[in-house]
Amino acid sequence: MPTNAVSRHYVAGGDLARAIAERLRAAGKDLERLAAGDLASVDEFHVRGRKATLELAAFLNVNSGSRVLDIGSGLGGPARTVAEAYGCHVTGIDLTEAFCDAAAIMSSWVRLADRVEFRQGDATHLPFDDGVFDAAMTIHVAMNIARKDHVYVEARRVLKPGGRFVVYDILQGEGGDVLYPVPWARAPSISHLATPEEMPRLLSDAGFGIVAVTDSTEESQRWFEGVAQRAAGTAPGVTFQAFLGDDFAEMARNQVANLRERRIRTVSYVCEA
Ligand SMILES: C[S@@+](CC[C@H](N)C(=O)[O-])C[C@H]1O[C@@H](n2cnc3c(N)ncnc32)[C@H](O)[C@@H]1O
Repeated sequence: MPTNAVSRHYVAGGDLARAIAERLRAAGKDLERLAAGDLASVDEFHVRGRKATLELAAFLNVNSGSRVLDIGSGLGGPARTVAEAYGCHVTGIDLTEAFCDAAAIMSSWVRLADRVEFRQGDATHLPFDDGVFDAAMTIHVAMNIARKDHVYVEARRVLKPGGRFVVYDILQGEGGDVLYPVPWARAPSISHLATPEEMPRLLSDAGFGIVAVTDSTEESQRWFEGVAQRAAGTAPGVTFQAFLGDDFAEMARNQVANLRERRIRTVSYVCEA
C-alpha cells in the first residue's frame, strides 16, 4: 500500500500490469502482438486520450535525437506515444511507484523499452541536473499538487534554454465547486486546481514564455460522455477501472457534469524555456 495519499488514491495495491494483461486477454488481444495504441484506453490517463497526446507532442519540436521528460508519467502511455511518433527518448517520472513499475512492463509488451524509462519521484523536486532535457510535458498532474510553482520552476531548471514545455491540465472553471469523486481525487483534500487566470503568471514566474493557449473543454465534454456511457456497462474493459476500481463509473458521470457545468475546464499551454 503506498505511503502518500495521492498514490493511495490511484492504486489500491496488487499487480497492476497483471490486472491489465488479464483485461487485454479478455478483450481478445494477443499480448505478443500488441501495438502501443492497443493500450491507449488504459494508459493515456487524461481527458481526450491519445489524440490529445499526439496534438500536444507536435508542439514539443523534437526529433529522434531528443531527450524528453514526462512529468507525472502514470502508466507511461504519453511517454510511449511520443517516443514512438518521434523516435526520441522519453524519461517519465511519477510519484506512484506501482505506476512506474507497470509502465516499464507495458513498454516491453510494445517493444519500446529501449526508448522510455520510468523513475519514481516528485514533480516538485526533480532528480535531474540542470538543462539536460530538450523538451518536457506534463499531462493532468498538477491537479494533485498544491505547490504548482515548484513544478514549473523545476521543469524550467531541467530544460535546455529554448526547450519547449507543454502543459495540459484540468483547471477550476467558473461554474462552481467540483463534484467528487473525480478520477484524480475522491475528496477535495488531494485536489488543487489552478484557475485559467492563475496559470499564465505561474508559468511566466517560472521563466517560461507562453507560445499558445488552447481551451478544449467542449471537446472534453463530448469525449467524457462516451467514456461515462461505456463505464456504465458491465464488461470489465481495458479502462481506468483496472486501477481506479468500481467507483470509476461514478467518477465518469461527475466528470460529464463538471465539464458541462464548467466547474472544470481542460486547457493546454505551449511554453518555451
Ligand atoms: C491522471 S494521472 C496522469 C498520468 C499521465 N500523465 C497520463 O496522462 O496518462 C496523474 C498522475 O500524476 C501523478 N502525480 C501526482 N502528484 C505527483 C507529484 N507530486 N509528482 C509526480 N507525479 C505526481 C500520479 O501518481 C498520477 O500518475
